[in-house]
Amino acid sequence: EVAVLDYGSQYSQLIVRRVRELGFVSHLYPPDQLATLNQPGAVILSGGPRSTSEVGAPDVDFEALMAFGVPILGVCYGMQLLNIKHGGTVKPGVTREYGPARLVVKEDNKAPLFDGLPHDSQIWMSHSDTVQNLSSGTKVIATNQDSVPVALQWSETCFGIQFHPEVTHSHEGTKILKNFLSLAEGKLAKFSITDFKDQMIEEIRREVADREVICGVSGGVDSTVLAVLLHKAGVKQRCLFVDNGLLRKNEREDVVAQFKEVGVPIEVVDARELFLNALSGVSDPEAKRKIIGNLFLDVFFGAADHIEVMAQGTLYPDVIESATSGSIASKIKTHHNRVDRAMELKKQGRVIEPLAELFKDEVRALGAELGIPHKALWRHPFPGPGLAVRVPGEVTEERLEICREADAIFIEELRRSGWYERTWQAYAAVLPVKTVGVKGDERSYEAAVSIRAVISEDAMTADWVELPHEVLRVISHRILNEVKGVNRVLYDISTKPPASIEWE
Ligand code: XMP
Repeated sequence: EVAVLDYGSQYSQLIVRRVRELGFVSHLYPPDQLATLNQPGAVILSGGPRSTSEVGAPDVDFEALMAFGVPILGVCYGMQLLNIKHGGTVKPGVTREYGPARLVVKEDNKAPLFDGLPHDSQIWMSHSDTVQNLSSGTKVIATNQDSVPVALQWSETCFGIQFHPEVTHSHEGTKILKNFLSLAEGKLAKFSITDFKDQMIEEIRREVADREVICGVSGGVDSTVLAVLLHKAGVKQRCLFVDNGLLRKNEREDVVAQFKEVGVPIEVVDARELFLNALSGVSDPEAKRKIIGNLFLDVFFGAADHIEVMAQGTLYPDVIESATSGSIASKIKTHHNRVDRAMELKKQGRVIEPLAELFKDEVRALGAELGIPHKALWRHPFPGPGLAVRVPGEVTEERLEICREADAIFIEELRRSGWYERTWQAYAAVLPVKTVGVKGDERSYEAAVSIRAVISEDAMTADWVELPHEVLRVISHRILNEVKGVNRVLYDISTKPPASIEWE
């Protein structure tokens, strides 16, 4: 395998992911576990937020590292550390260099790391320290546009690079990693999703043993994959699905059917009345969210009763922002609903997050390997507070009903026209206004529905989708004719930012 030593960069797991994409097994390890590793085929030292000159900055057991006798690549902090270990010095920076720079490759005696690379390409920097002195024998194999060394070579197979090859902004990054891994030809285990699944199942069995695992399911991709994975692991399992009354048309039945299809029993907790009563008369967005969040916790933990182990479908991007050196499985996303109570369980070692190393597309690949139907794996994201954020203002059963009906038509037409999977998310919202119209020969005074379809990569930014006019026309016509109480349909053409994806 390729062992990646995690010095705490927010990109550490991304290195692991790139190596997997290149077809090799890779895992992240805390640097202090180096000496206990099984013989790896290559080692990568990640970047990190600290300065190598700080007291107590994370170190590397250099002797143990070299004793492996395998190719070594230091990235950013990892490069500085290797530079020091080889007898060089590092100059602590005062400011952080962040963003694009140029990689200018030394062409005479070109390093194998840069095979097939253009002379000059874009790289991505995020560092403050720079190399100061190099020990004798150190080769500078590339510089930036200002002739500052950004890549070093200490031996046939030991390299350091100041930039981050794992991010897509480093245009030749994947090729550099590929070149590096080719130095370990034949010594690296091939990555396959089947083996990966088997390993995860083994790990779950070991971690859970004979305890009972509770997991909340929503029907979304992550919790579905998680529940099926636990099921395949054969551990004692309870899956709870909370119906908060804020679900889409037929959603509860669909989710029940979806789990039936994959053979995992779920318990439906009907809390519709509780939620709708609690939301009655409340129109402030934050107040609505708070009520829903707290009530969910009460209902979920109430139904779970006694929890031995709780499983969460946290993905790597959820933990990325809090990534620090150490076991990534020990981190949790604060807005991940559970906060205090989950943290308490976590401290007691009673939370497992089997998907925490994965990115969304890897979860989908794993789901397909587990036999989960395509449709379930490609469902659009749906917010925890459900339709409450799609009926701005007060949540009433009447407005929810309009929202459900309009949304169902919109989604049906997107599927029919082949646009569903070309959009990241799409939904109908009911605006908190009534407007005047004519129906038959009479004046109407009814609701306005806004439909929104966006593309996005990570939900941080989003653009509206240029749906064909014919598709929009059919959707509008059907909503106006089939949904009672609606006389106006609007198409939302707002980007995020400044708008958000949801209405509240
Ligand atoms: P916004 O509206 O902030 O949404 O642009 C970004 C993405 O997050 C989803 N979303 C949520 N998901 N709990 C969730 O699990 C929430 O409270 C929540 N609020 C928004 C939203 O649907 C979009 O995909």
